[in-house]
Amino acid sequence: MKQPEGIRGVTIVGTGMYVPDRVLTNRDLERMVETSDEWIRDRTGITERRIAEPSQAASDLASAAARKALDAAGLGPLDVDQIVVATTTPDRYLPSCGCTVQDKIGAKNAAAYDLFAACTGFIYGLGVARGAIATGMADTVLVIGVEMLSRIVDYTDRNTCVLFGDGAGAAVLRPCAAGDGLLSISIHDGSIGDLLEIPAGGSASPASRETVEQGGHFIKMKGKELFKVAVRGMSESMKMALDQAGVAASDLEVVIPHQANLRIIEATRERLGIGPEKVINNIDRYGNTSSASIPISLDEVVRSGRLKPGDHVGFVAFGGGVTWGASVMRWTMTSPVPARAATAPATAAAPTAGESA
Ligand code: ACO
Repeated sequence: MKQPEGIRGVTIVGTGMYVPDRVLTNRDLERMVETSDEWIRDRTGITERRIAEPSQAASDLASAAARKALDAAGLGPLDVDQIVVATTTPDRYLPSCGCTVQDKIGAKNAAAYDLFAACTGFIYGLGVARGAIATGMADTVLVIGVEMLSRIVDYTDRNTCVLFGDGAGAAVLRPCAAGDGLLSISIHDGSIGDLLEIPAGGSASPASRETVEQGGHFIKMKGKELFKVAVRGMSESMKMALDQAGVAASDLEVVIPHQANLRIIEATRERLGIGPEKVINNIDRYGNTSSASIPISLDEVVRSGRLKPGDHVGFVAFGGGVTWGASVMRWTMTSPVPARAATAPATAAAPTAGESA
């Protein structure tokens, strides 16, 4: 999706994130399934992940991140024209998580909806926002990535339960000068759906006693196959996004990859020939938060003061579907942003084996 000539540029004017206080460490997981801290760190790079409280739903995490992003942008909820919530774990399927967020933050003027593109959801969301703003359909779009993966993880399945965490990140997008902001978005679908799926609960296999007994509502993953697809999809889409933007990989100041696995990030980085100092990695602290991982990472980068106007930033992801995609931005935000309130780890009990957290 190259930007057509003569329409408005689109940029990010504020970011925010929220992660629950509760921490689930690798040591906690050692007590739940047959695994070890060493195996998890060696194979994934993950040390701990955040787990939402039973009283929290995805819209609570999303709303907290959205309020911070709006504050950072110097805007209020009534300024928002559209809310796009990228998620695989909405509160419910009806109403959408977007509608619930719209209500919770008081964005009474906004259209709101959900976008299902798994871990690539935030990049797909940037594409939707760019289309709406560039054509003048909207001036202010809130793109949120939120996941409560602890609610769809089987804590007796060591193949998946060590990987995933909960969290939310948000970005506010507004018009900017043509040629600034989002320069390119390259999104794709590889159509290999059985590599990562939740088999039951949708129209193909509605919830029933049998689907519950068979664990059909938990996430199932073919990790090894997914690994190869991920590296190929991420590196190819990043190259396409760079070509479309007319930017060389060496000109990227910062690359924010989806935090799925440190080895996937490393293999992608090597294929692209980008220095390790440019690639953001916080998977050790949050695990894989699917569509939330890029906006969480972006907010941490922005609040660290690392980005300045004119810097080129790359986003790249892959996820269930499979979906994959990348985007290149010329950064425009100049205003200082307040320091984020600390999200201090809590010492609450870990979920027990066999229970959803
Ligand atoms: N602890 C200890 N041993 C384990 C664990 C665990 N948590 N999980 C698997 N093993 C075992 C396996 O059973 C296997 O044992 P076996 O050889 O006796 O059969 C052994 O470890 C090796 O398993 P592999 O699958 O070869 O391990 P691999 O190096 O491929 O790492 C992993 C597994 C981490 C899942 C990796 O394949 C991966 O990261 N794949 C991509 C997953 C991913 O990114 N998923 C999400 C993408 S989309 C999204 O983000 C929602």
